[in-house]
Amino acid sequence: MARELNEVGVVGLGTMGAGIAEVLARAGLSVTAVEVTDEALARGRGHVEQSTDRAVSRGKLDAAERDTIFERIRFTTSLEDLAQAELVIEAIPERMELKADVFAELDKICAPDTILATNTSSLSVTELSVVTGRPSKVIGMHFFNPAPVMKLVEVVRTVVTEQSVVDDVEALAERLGKVDVTIGDKAGFIANALLFGYLNHAVAMYENRYASREDIDAAMRLGCGLPMGPLALMDLIGIDTAYEILDTMYKQSRNRLHAPSPVIKQMMTAGLLGRKSGRGFYSYA
Ligand code: CAA
Repeated sequence: MARELNEVGVVGLGTMGAGIAEVLARAGLSVTAVEVTDEALARGRGHVEQSTDRAVSRGKLDAAERDTIFERIRFTTSLEDLAQAELVIEAIPERMELKADVFAELDKICAPDTILATNTSSLSVTELSVVTGRPSKVIGMHFFNPAPVMKLVEVVRTVVTEQSVVDDVEALAERLGKVDVTIGDKAGFIANALLFGYLNHAVAMYENRYASREDIDAAMRLGCGLPMGPLALMDLIGIDTAYEILDTMYKQSRNRLHAPSPVIKQMMTAGLLGRKSGRGFYSYA
């Protein structure tokens, strides 16, 4: 019988963390949302406001429900406020050293039976688990962008993750209205391992001037029925995030499909990060 998790923490309130905090609060959970600075915290809160305001303006949520969602989220810059959490989901940038520091801190702050989950897209969950004194309670809980909309959660189990922890996280995903799939700790898990070869190929096609960005995107939307073309999707995911995912997968498997197209790194260096910076393959007013 799965444990019902009601007190949940989210560390990192970028696009993914803020979306995850919203999803948890919408499902009635009590959420402690942590960022490193007041500025980042305000930005994270702004993401949740924007998303819930949009739902209100579309008539999907009423104003009172939106206020209740905010009452359920405690915004803080102190990791210590996670002492009561039954589950913490980490969603900070895709850098192993940063994530390892957070996991080591959480291990000291949280109760021994608290589940520590990572929303990493491609880094090793096993490597993160061993910086804690509780590797069997560490798991991957990978949401998709935009988290309030996309139905999938990949549950990533390592060779030491306890079955009860897998059960608890799967039960939670279902309570959030998501569909879970389970996978071992392999870079890219299921969806990104398949998706990013295609996205990288689309970028190469654009870089080599075979076709315009609009035509590449139209071909996949209108010819293959995808909701977005690959270059628009790269902008949604974030060029920096896409680079980190490709680079990690390439280093792990040396599969040329995942060798990041050079322009991705160039865009990243130039600050063209996609929607979040206002410009990527397309411009966003
Ligand atoms: N946050 C919250 N809600 C959002 C949103 C956002 N950023 N973007 C769109 N929505 C909501 C809208 O409010 C709307 O909700 P309702 O139906 O309840 O009114 C719904 O999504 C549809 O939005 P729109 O009508 O504005 O636009 P759309 O129909 O074109 O859908 C989309 C937008 C959901 C993003 C759709 O284009 C889509 O599914 N795109 C593909 C997204 C995808 O592939 N994501 C996976 C990326 S890979 C990943 O995330 C893994 C990783 O590790 C990087």
